[in-house]
Amino acid sequence: MALDATTEAAPLTDTFGRRITYLRISVTDRCDLRCRYCMAEKMEFLPRSEILSFEEIDTIAEGFVERGVRKIRLSGGEPLVRRGVTQLAARLGRHLQTGKLDELTMTTNATRLAEHAKALADTGIERVNVSLDTRDPDMFRYVTRWGELDRVLEGIAAAKKAGLRVKINMVALTGLNDGEIVPMMHWCADQGHDLTLIETMPLGHIDDDRSDRYLPLDSVKRDLERQFTLVPLAERTGGPARYWKVERLGLKLGLITPLTNNFCDGCNRVRITVSGKIYMCLGHDDHLDLKSALRDGGRAALDRVLDEAMIRKPLRHDFRIAAGETDPAVTRHMSVTGG
Ligand code: 5AD
Ligand code: SF4
Repeated sequence: MALDATTEAAPLTDTFGRRITYLRISVTDRCDLRCRYCMAEKMEFLPRSEILSFEEIDTIAEGFVERGVRKIRLSGGEPLVRRGVTQLAARLGRHLQTGKLDELTMTTNATRLAEHAKALADTGIERVNVSLDTRDPDMFRYVTRWGELDRVLEGIAAAKKAGLRVKINMVALTGLNDGEIVPMMHWCADQGHDLTLIETMPLGHIDDDRSDRYLPLDSVKRDLERQFTLVPLAERTGGPARYWKVERLGLKLGLITPLTNNFCDGCNRVRITVSGKIYMCLGHDDHLDLKSALRDGGRAALDRVLDEAMIRKPLRHDFRIAAGETDPAVTRHMSVTGG
């Protein structure tokens, strides 16, 4: 049945009664870095013919906004490697002006943020999440396989100058950056950035064994509590993150603990890939094809796929990381669905 113009499309709600208000859009699966926990050194990316155009992304996003999505995050891969992505952000920014969207954000590795920060701030984006696992130049080059720390720090400084708020995402890695967590907390507090620590998740084949580097954040938290008072904040974003105020530093600290603490109950999100697939859960391979629906049947077909997606959204993921287990829980990389 086609929806007529006067009918309000039903808000997206899954079979567990969870309202879907948050959409993550991966605008490219490509990246200019190769973080060891994220990608193998040699990666095969999608051929350009398979990826959604900006017009298609815009149409899909609008379909979600009309069904109750209030927050959109652009991610990748690295979103800023896709040419023109700030124009896409500017187009999506119109939903902020109409009040249909509360927030538009981007996750970036900041290698190209110095060039784009001002344009991004003009789109209505107020906040960026920057992936930064270490502030040691040699360690940064090691973890990212070839990244230049200076460019990233310049990007972060440019974002701040352009008035963007910055949240640093740091994946906690045993034997690599565990000694840098406290210094990173001090630096973020000095700079006025929020900090979120992330457990490494078993997504996609990498060249290493993830269990060697897996650092459970419940033990990190116990260590931190010996030095700092962590005051829990009520704030939740509908994902696996919990937030604390680190009193002495005045820092907002987030912990993303999909492995040590499963917080799927309040999940409010779905993800779309740059090839137009919707994934209902980061931890499952089940997905539906929005691109074909849109190309063959327009917005009405898109809405039908969204209804089906709500029926198929699973209750929870089933991640675990065990020693010697090199097969990831799901075969696609984080860069396909954008975290
Ligand atoms: N596990 C945890 N975090 C990951 N990221 C990329 N791959 C993984 C993984 N396998 C992080 C990036 C970025 C965010 C989107 O996800 O560092 O900050
Ligand atoms: Fe690129 Fe981010 Fe993956 Fe690093 S973690 S390789 S910056 S997508």
